[in-house]
Amino acid sequence: MDSFDLVIFGITGNLAQIKLIPVLYDMVEKDILPESVQIVGTARSPMTQEEFESYFHKVLHQDNRHHKHDVHEAVLKKLFSKLHYLPGNLDDPSFYRNIKDYLKKIHKGEGKQNLVFYLATYPQLYQSIFDNLKKIGLSDQEKRWVRLIIEKPIGLDLPSAKKLNKLLLKYFHENQIFRLDHYLGKETLQNILTFRFGNGIFEPMMNKKYIDHIQVSALEDFGIGKRGGYYDSVGALKDVGQNHLLQMLTIPCMDPPKEFLHTEVVKERQKIIKKLISYPKSLILGQYEGYQKEENVAPDSVTDTYFAFKTEINNTRFKGVPIYIRGGKSLKQTATEISIVFKNPTNRLFKNLDGGKAPNVLVYRIQPNEGIMLQILTKKPDHGTALNHSFMQYCYPQNFPQHTFPDAYEKLIVDAIRGDQTYFNNAAEVESEWKYIDEFTAKLPEPCLYKPGSWGPKEADELIEKDGRKWLEPSNQLCSFTTISSLK
Ligand code: BG6
Repeated sequence: MDSFDLVIFGITGNLAQIKLIPVLYDMVEKDILPESVQIVGTARSPMTQEEFESYFHKVLHQDNRHHKHDVHEAVLKKLFSKLHYLPGNLDDPSFYRNIKDYLKKIHKGEGKQNLVFYLATYPQLYQSIFDNLKKIGLSDQEKRWVRLIIEKPIGLDLPSAKKLNKLLLKYFHENQIFRLDHYLGKETLQNILTFRFGNGIFEPMMNKKYIDHIQVSALEDFGIGKRGGYYDSVGALKDVGQNHLLQMLTIPCMDPPKEFLHTEVVKERQKIIKKLISYPKSLILGQYEGYQKEENVAPDSVTDTYFAFKTEINNTRFKGVPIYIRGGKSLKQTATEISIVFKNPTNRLFKNLDGGKAPNVLVYRIQPNEGIMLQILTKKPDHGTALNHSFMQYCYPQNFPQHTFPDAYEKLIVDAIRGDQTYFNNAAEVESEWKYIDEFTAKLPEPCLYKPGSWGPKEADELIEKDGRKWLEPSNQLCSFTTISSLK
């Protein structure tokens, strides 16, 4: 890995606290970073180095569902030896002079290190950031590379995404821009490509001849927390539907790329998005009761915290296979998964036995209890021929007991440092996502209220039930070793 300096704009924000700081810790713990790497965090408030370190300390010890392992003082010490804080305003040109001088100072006069700029800040500031980086020479690639990591959402609709892409391309080349949708960095999502294209036996069934329908779900049992200021202006459909959920659909449905090269992989993902048929009338929006009382949320807000819709892929492989997509907060259970529900052959032998009509379902569980499961019928071990609902499953923790997954952000930051854009979005892909979502948002329905702790509004059940199908409840047995041991 090349050495580089990492400059994070917005180190005191929510993203930095939940994702970036824990990932920096992990990278130091695993010794992934080259020795000479320096990390510069920036934000507006003044802080001494000591205060900055205690801020990191606090962040790493607070409750974080993605970062549950112990924090060791020795690792912190090593992390702190690379860590610097620079306060300043991102719309102030003199701040960029300070950054440049500071980087030079920490490298004892050498000012030409490779640079990664991580924009964990408001999109309204991008223009000023790009302009100032260019003016001061911090984005020039003479004798080094300079890369930019920029978070979703890229824009808030197609016109604003196009505008932002144009702005990015005015200052950077496409191969410098890493548009990050962290779902593409999830180990379990990436594994679907290996499962499908690395094995011979599954792929022949991944088409309309065998598949009845597909469900994509990203369900969370928690609300918006302290993110009201951002969330209330975006809503669930744009927060996760336009990006994470569409990407969750592309990977299990895309055709095999000609080669495992980023240009080919991105092309195949984008083809799926471009072929999606939208049914705007199918869109159901929901809002959990109590949402309007959340911090920084308008008291009369009509922002969606839940959505469900139906779609279809207009290609020879999937035409006619309904796809149901849903995502939301404050639901009964946290589970992110893709379920491929197979058709039942009419001549199935045991169909008249109790439970004999249950379809085979292939579940890609992205989180929690990560794994891949095939729901099958087996014989109850007893006299007679009673049926048992069983699972054939691949579960990560069982297969890699010592393994701690690299977080999606860790994987993507490493990819960006290596210059690998396979799991990043290019401008065209993001614009295809928005083009599709904009067809739904032209005329949004009122959100239906639902109870926190439920599965969402009943209207979303009706959406799928009127097609004679049901939302699948995330299975608690899938890769759950507590369940398995309690069965013993
Ligand atoms: C973020 C959304 O992009 O993804 C959040 O802004 C959502 O609202 C989160 O909760 C889900 O990511 P993960 O990795 O926690 O499943």
